[in-house]
Amino acid sequence: MSLRIKTLASFVNIMDKVADVGCDHAYLAIYLAENNSCQSILATEINPHSYQNASQNIKHANLEDKIKLFLTDGIKDIASNEVDTLIIAGLGTHTILQIIKDAQAKNIKKLIIQSNNDLYLLRSSLKKRGFYLTKEKVLKEKDIWYTIDVFTLTKYKQTNLINYWGIKEPLNKKYLQENYHHLQSLNNKVTFKDLKRKLNILYQIYLIKKYL
Ligand SMILES: C[S@@+](CC[C@H](N)C(=O)[O-])C[C@H]1O[C@@H](n2cnc3c(N)ncnc32)[C@H](O)[C@@H]1O
Repeated sequence: MSLRIKTLASFVNIMDKVADVGCDHAYLAIYLAENNSCQSILATEINPHSYQNASQNIKHANLEDKIKLFLTDGIKDIASNEVDTLIIAGLGTHTILQIIKDAQAKNIKKLIIQSNNDLYLLRSSLKKRGFYLTKEKVLKEKDIWYTIDVFTLTKYKQTNLINYWGIKEPLNKKYLQENYHHLQSLNNKVTFKDLKRKLNILYQIYLIKKYL
């Protein structure tokens, strides 16, 4: 099992009622079920082809009684009492936010998210919805950085530094350094004619330096 999937699973607790949203192959749901990691597990897929793949994999693993699979958008067809923890991994921030917006009336207490892009938008938008960044793990696999963020309803002073660069963690130094160099080279290319973008890059550099 990939390090990314194992890390996503590491944030699940035994009493959680989990939905693996956008499960694709359902590897994560299968991993959780095989390890008896949570109270219940369901998996959802919007794409019929991926749904079929997930269905076959669950069948091959003999886990049809443990994983409920749904062909649906987000958790639209799931009853409120069936789920309290969403795992959404490998999707873009806009889709993730839409799924959470549609799901929020349903008693969700924890979100385990690995977004493919725009972590600032993810963290700042979720904060407005009452979900605060409480745990985080950054990892590199096959030369790609992944950030796994856990959001709960635990309110605290989540600053813009955290919205942009996550929770301070000495082990993330390499990730931060690579981002710092990327921002520096962007800064060299973007002129003040593109004022809004330039100022945003400078602001991100100012913030990231606080962690380096
Ligand atoms: C790149 S895959 C990620 C699979 C898996 N979550 C992982 O991290 O390995 C994204 C999956 O999300 C599904 N998806 C996209 N939007 C969705 C939505 N609104 N509801 C359910 N599934 C969705 C896609 O069909 C695709 O199979």
